[in-house]
Amino acid sequence: MVKMWLIGLVLMNIMNTHAEYSALQAVLSQKGLEKVAHWSTDWLQNELSSIELPEVRGGVNIGIGTVHYVLHDMSIQRCDLPEPSVAFSEGTGVSLQVSGLSIAISGHWNTQFGVIHDSGWFEIAVYTVNLNTVLQLGSDEERLSISTIMCSADVGSVQVNFHGGASFIFQPFVDIFSGQIANEIRVQICPALEKGIDVLERHLAAVPVALKVDPYVFMNISLTDSPLVEDSGLGLNVTGEFYSISSPSEPPFSPDYFDLTWQENFMMSLGASEFCVNSAAYAYHTAGALQIRITEDMIPKASPFHLNTSAFGSLIPQLPKQYPDMPMELQLYTSETPLISFSKTVTSVRLLASVKAFAVKPDSGTVPLFRLDIESSFSAKAYIEKVLVKGALEMKNLTVTLGATEIGQFSITPIERALTLGMKAFVLPKVNAQLSEGIQLPFVKGFGLKNAVMAIEDGFVAVAADISGPDDNTQ
Ligand SMILES: *[C@@H]1O[C@H](CO)[C@@H](O)[C@H](O)[C@H]1NC(C)=O
Ligand SMILES: *[C@@H]1O[C@H](CO)[C@@H](O)[C@H](O)[C@H]1NC(C)=O
Ligand SMILES: *[C@@H]1O[C@H](CO)[C@@H](O)[C@H](O)[C@H]1NC(C)=O
Ligand SMILES: *[C@@H]1O[C@H](CO)[C@@H](O)[C@H](O)[C@H]1NC(C)=O
Repeated sequence: MVKMWLIGLVLMNIMNTHAEYSALQAVLSQKGLEKVAHWSTDWLQNELSSIELPEVRGGVNIGIGTVHYVLHDMSIQRCDLPEPSVAFSEGTGVSLQVSGLSIAISGHWNTQFGVIHDSGWFEIAVYTVNLNTVLQLGSDEERLSISTIMCSADVGSVQVNFHGGASFIFQPFVDIFSGQIANEIRVQICPALEKGIDVLERHLAAVPVALKVDPYVFMNISLTDSPLVEDSGLGLNVTGEFYSISSPSEPPFSPDYFDLTWQENFMMSLGASEFCVNSAAYAYHTAGALQIRITEDMIPKASPFHLNTSAFGSLIPQLPKQYPDMPMELQLYTSETPLISFSKTVTSVRLLASVKAFAVKPDSGTVPLFRLDIESSFSAKAYIEKVLVKGALEMKNLTVTLGATEIGQFSITPIERALTLGMKAFVLPKVNAQLSEGIQLPFVKGFGLKNAVMAIEDGFVAVAADISGPDDNTQ
């Protein structure tokens, strides 16, 4: 019995070590949190401005009897929210304090004193409202979730001005019921905030865990761990695996452990592992996106070499004999997933590609000629410019084997030499031109990164950056 239990325990441990590692890790620092709080101020101000104030009823003894009053149809005219102070609260989430909030309210009053009815309007200014709240960050079904776990509010002072009717009679008694009004407002503030946080939570719950990146691939952005809240920041571990949209499948490799260093001087840090990048390569490869058709019209007029069977005669003597004077086209595609490996010293890419050569008939039909299998390795450089990851590839090695031939055997050596030259002179400059245009970092519209720095570590790439929003282009 004990043995069974032990085996179970060991099995569970084995299964735990096979738990999915995240391929993408993100950290928001205190500095980043302050930026988020800055952006959230307007949102919070709107939430507070939309508080619905219920009627306030009461009675005031004016010496000769009691005046019963109703304050109704109150609406918030203005709400001035100073920037909240925010801090991470270890193990929990975020504490948020607002001090010195002021609110201007207008509404109508009705009074009854015996048989005498009267009415008019009023303004209330509420000063120095303080709000103290703790928001919990957690995960719900592998998504980030947020909830309010503590909220308290107090109201400093209230100033009321009555207008219309016999308002001059009540104005002197305002002090008596302003406390009542202040309390009425105080009890509304936390529910209003909680309502706002609930709205935010519903938005978070609606974020799809499959984030469509482009027409070919999506990325699984579900959380692999609960959010980690330290005093210095918030860490999120994300699955970060790419899939082909048309044929999603698991790649033949799995994520490795990596641990991103939290950079407190930047608003955020991001780490993407080899697995993240290679799963993207696998997804594009299985989606059939990694292929290119090379035709004669892509070759510059001035090029000494053209895509035709006579030109190929110097490399494959029998070709122009079998297919004299025919234009050719090449289909270049990855035969296996390109694999990248990050290391502090060198980033290398291994590429297995095939090229199929065709002769193009006058009716635009094609005749297959041969297939070459190419194995090549590159070293890569990558850097960040503005919000784009850019890079450059350098070819280290290229070997060619004849994969199939419809025109009989021929020697590969001259082709390998020509192809090496062609790669260096034609393909790589094109690829590098694309890479130098850059790949957009996945980021929410309107927001970008600035002061970004990138470091290639062993097994992953780390980016630390500040976040810029739509309102701070001027900075
Ligand atoms: C995303 O990954 C999680 C685990 O890492 C998995 O449970 C979930 O099914 C995945 N979702 C998609 C859409 O692939
Ligand atoms: C993310 O995963 C790494 C490696 O498993 C771990 O060291 C780190 O604490 C995790 N971070 C969070 C936020 O869960
Ligand atoms: C074939 O290419 C060679 C150069 O590589 C060029 O001189 C010749 O004109 C081309 N033939 C045709 C039919 O385009
Ligand atoms: C190039 O690759 C071939 C076969 O894969 C290998 O034998 C050769 O040593 C490599 N050359 C260099 C310079 O890496």
